[in-house]
Amino acid sequence: MPAARAHRLTTFRGFPPFRAPATARDVRALWERRLDGAPSDYPIWMHVHVPFCPQICTFCHCGKELLRRSSDLDAWLVRIRDEATYFADALRGTRIQHQYFGGGTPNLLSPAQLDSLLDLLEERFDHSTVERRTLEILPSAYRDGTVEVAVRHGIRRLSCGVQSTDVHALREVGRQPDLEMLAHILERAQTLGVNDVNIDLAWGLPGDTEEGLFRSLSAVLALEPTSVSIHLLIPTPKYSAFRTESEARDIYSRFRALPEYPHDHSDSAPLGRFAWYKLPTVVAVVAKDYVARGEYRSFQYSDMETVGMDMLGLGRYALSHVLGRARYENMTAVDRFDASEPGYRLAYVDGVVDGALDALADLLRDGTCDFASIERRYAPEGLEAIRSVLDALTAEGYLARADGTYAGPGITADVFGPAGDFVDLALSRAVMLNPGAAVADRPQGPGAASFELEFAGTSVAIRLEKARPSQTYFATVGAFGISHERLEGPSPPGLVPAMERLTALLGDLVSERPRTLPELASELRRRLPGSR
Ligand SMILES: C[S@@+](CC[C@H](N)C(=O)[O-])C[C@H]1O[C@@H](n2cnc3c(N)ncnc32)[C@H](O)[C@@H]1O
Ligand code: SF4
Repeated sequence: MPAARAHRLTTFRGFPPFRAPATARDVRALWERRLDGAPSDYPIWMHVHVPFCPQICTFCHCGKELLRRSSDLDAWLVRIRDEATYFADALRGTRIQHQYFGGGTPNLLSPAQLDSLLDLLEERFDHSTVERRTLEILPSAYRDGTVEVAVRHGIRRLSCGVQSTDVHALREVGRQPDLEMLAHILERAQTLGVNDVNIDLAWGLPGDTEEGLFRSLSAVLALEPTSVSIHLLIPTPKYSAFRTESEARDIYSRFRALPEYPHDHSDSAPLGRFAWYKLPTVVAVVAKDYVARGEYRSFQYSDMETVGMDMLGLGRYALSHVLGRARYENMTAVDRFDASEPGYRLAYVDGVVDGALDALADLLRDGTCDFASIERRYAPEGLEAIRSVLDALTAEGYLARADGTYAGPGITADVFGPAGDFVDLALSRAVMLNPGAAVADRPQGPGAASFELEFAGTSVAIRLEKARPSQTYFATVGAFGISHERLEGPSPPGLVPAMERLTALLGDLVSERPRTLPELASELRRRLPGSR
C-alpha cells in the first residue's frame, strides 16, 4: 500500500477562499438559471440560521451575536419573512427535502415566534414531501412549548448542544450546565413521538481527558438519544485552549488516540446498543437500531455540508450552495432585508469544483466514491477531470474500480493523503473561476492577522489566523480546512519543507509587526520565489 500523504483534516467547508460581494438580486438570478428546466419536484435543502445567543461561548466558531433585546427577534422575523418571500418565486416548483434550523440558538425564539416562522416558510415553500427537518436546541435556554410547536409542524429531529457535563469546564467557556434541562427535553420529545435526537459534545474543552469525555458520554447516553456527535473543536482566535501550536497539536493527537470500537452488534459490545464511528473531525456514537433501519446517513462533518443537494440558506451567516454554479455566505444585516445590499459573499464553482469536493467527501467518509451519482449531478462538466484523478489513484494502487464505484482502503480518514488530489483540482479550478478575488475579507482585530494565499503554483491555499502576539499560528491549507502537519513517512516531494518554511515565515512576519493582508501577501511573494 502506498504511504499516506501529509495533510490532516481539521474541518471540511466547501468554500473556496474567494468571496466577492453580491446582492440578493444576483444570487436570485443564479437560482433562476440553475432551476430553469429543472423537474417540477426538484429537491432543495433549506437552512435557516437564527443568529442570536444568550451567551458567547469562548470556543464557538458559529455565526452568532449576543441577544441584547427581545425586540431584536421580532426584527429578525420580519427580515426572514422578506428574504423568504424574495426567494420563494425563484424557487417555485421546487420542494424542500431537508431542512435545518440552526444557529446561534434557534430556541431563543419563543414558541409563538417559532410557530409563526414555520407557518411562514410552509406557506412560501412546498413542504409536502419534506423528509428530514432538524431544530437545534441549546438546553439551558429551553422554554416549555418549543418541542410541542416543532412536532405540530412535523419536525421529528432535534439536535441539542451540550458539549460536556463537567460544570467547571462549562463555566470556563462561558456556558451554563444543562443536563437536567436536557433530560426534560428528551422526555418531552420521546413522549411526543420525536424519533431522532442528536446530542453534541465537544473535544478540546479546558482540561479535557478521555476519562472526562466518557463521563459526559455515559451521562448523555443514559437519556437514550439517537446519536451523540463528539466534535473536535476547530481552533478559533479567541479560544485560549489553542494558545500555541503545540497545544493545538496535543488536542488533535489526543482526539486521534481515542479508542476505536469495532462495530460489534451484540449487546455486550462496549457501548451496548450504540455504534462508534470515528470520522476525521467528529466521533458519531449512533444507536444500532437506527443504523440497522438504514436511517443513519453520515453527513460527515455537519448537517449542512456536502450533501450533493442545492441548499438555500436564509438569514445572516447562513450558507447556500447552488450546485455547480456558486456557493455563498449570507453576511447581510441581521434585522432588515434589502435586495440591493451587497451582503452575500459569493464564490463561483462549477461541476469540476463541486464534483471534486463530493468525491473528496465520499472518500473520506468510507473510502468509497460513488462516481455514478457525481456523474448524474454534474455531467458533462466535471466528469473528465474527476475521472482522471480517480483513475490515477487507481493506477497508483490507492483505489480499485468496480462498476460505477471506486473504493480502497488506502484513503484513511485521519490522514487523508491521496484524496487531497481532489482539493488540488477543486482549488485550482476555483482560482480560474474567480479571477482576482484571491484574498478574502475577514474581520481583523488588534494583533490579529488573517491571511489566505495560493502558494507556489500548487493549489495549496494558506489560511493563517493569529489572535495575539504570543500565539504561534494556525495554518490551514486550503480554505476547505486542511491543515499542515509534520508526519512520519514520505510525502509529496517538497511539500512539507515548503509548508514548514511558509508557516514559519508567516509566523515571523505576523509577530514582527501588524500588517494588512495585501502587505502580508506582497511581502510573502517577495520572500518566496515561485509564489504567485
Ligand atoms: C452552531 S452550534 C449551536 C448549538 C447551540 N447554540 C449550542 O451552543 O449548543 C452547533 C454545534 O457546533 C459545535 N461547535 C461550536 N464551536 C465549535 C468549534 N469551534 N469547533 C467545532 N465544533 C464547534 C458545538 O458542538 C455545537 O453544539
Ligand atoms: S456554542 Fe451555541 S450558545 Fe455558545 S456561542 Fe456558539 S452558538 Fe451560541
